[in-house]
Amino acid sequence: MSYDAKFRVWRGDEGEGELVDYTVEVNEGEVVLDIIHRLQATQAPDLAVRWNCKAGKCGSCSAEVNGMPRLMCMTRMSTFEPDETITVTPVRTFPVIRDLVTDVSYNYEKAQQIPSFDPGDTKPGEFRMQQVDVERSQEFRKCIECFLCNNVCHVIRDHEENKPGFAGPRFLMRIAELEMHPADVADRRNIAQEDHGLGFCNITKCCTEVCPEHIKITDNALIPMKERVAGRRYDPVVWLGSKLGIV
Ligand code: SF4
Ligand code: F3S
Ligand code: FES
Repeated sequence: MSYDAKFRVWRGDEGEGELVDYTVEVNEGEVVLDIIHRLQATQAPDLAVRWNCKAGKCGSCSAEVNGMPRLMCMTRMSTFEPDETITVTPVRTFPVIRDLVTDVSYNYEKAQQIPSFDPGDTKPGEFRMQQVDVERSQEFRKCIECFLCNNVCHVIRDHEENKPGFAGPRFLMRIAELEMHPADVADRRNIAQEDHGLGFCNITKCCTEVCPEHIKITDNALIPMKERVAGRRYDPVVWLGSKLGIV
């Protein structure tokens, strides 16, 4: 069954913009990205939108649909009433380039700042591990880098000034992934706390709620990292050792 849906789409660039109303045909089984593509094909050929896989795997089509951070390609039109107006805006935490496309360089800068996997003296092919030891790191590897978690985190959502000192849930989770990996020998607790702002996180769990891969970011990455940092800070032996410069 086809019907005409009312869409309100943000149009503009980094300078200024506005919400523009459109009426677009919807067919059975379609997702929000299909409607945005039809809008481009029929009424707004200059509408800028970023997408790639249309299968929820590339993380490119992040936007806010009726105020909720979502992948447009995974948001079914059947979740809305046919007479509802659907508002599509760019993700708010990153600067707009044009229309629905934002500049997500912040995320790549943070990714670069995290020290990479450190196998110590172990040579490639030497390390053996049990599946159970890497399950947690594998959960975090499901990340498709849609940055919806970073977009929704209140620490940076309306606080540009916090961006230099906070890597956001996606990259604090990356630090946790390496810290929990049995073959990585680096101690990443200070890096998380001092360089990447783990202490800013007050466990609101908004990041976990929006993750399209259903990764338990807060419970499995952020809270355990906080516990490890606290363990280091409040363990009297570690405290004495750090004063003597031996741990
Ligand atoms: Fe997206 Fe989830 Fe990865 Fe965050 S952790 S970037 S929400 S897939
Ligand atoms: Fe932000 Fe997630 Fe912590 S939304 S405050 S990083 S629990
Ligand atoms: Fe790839 Fe939506 S187009 S996740």
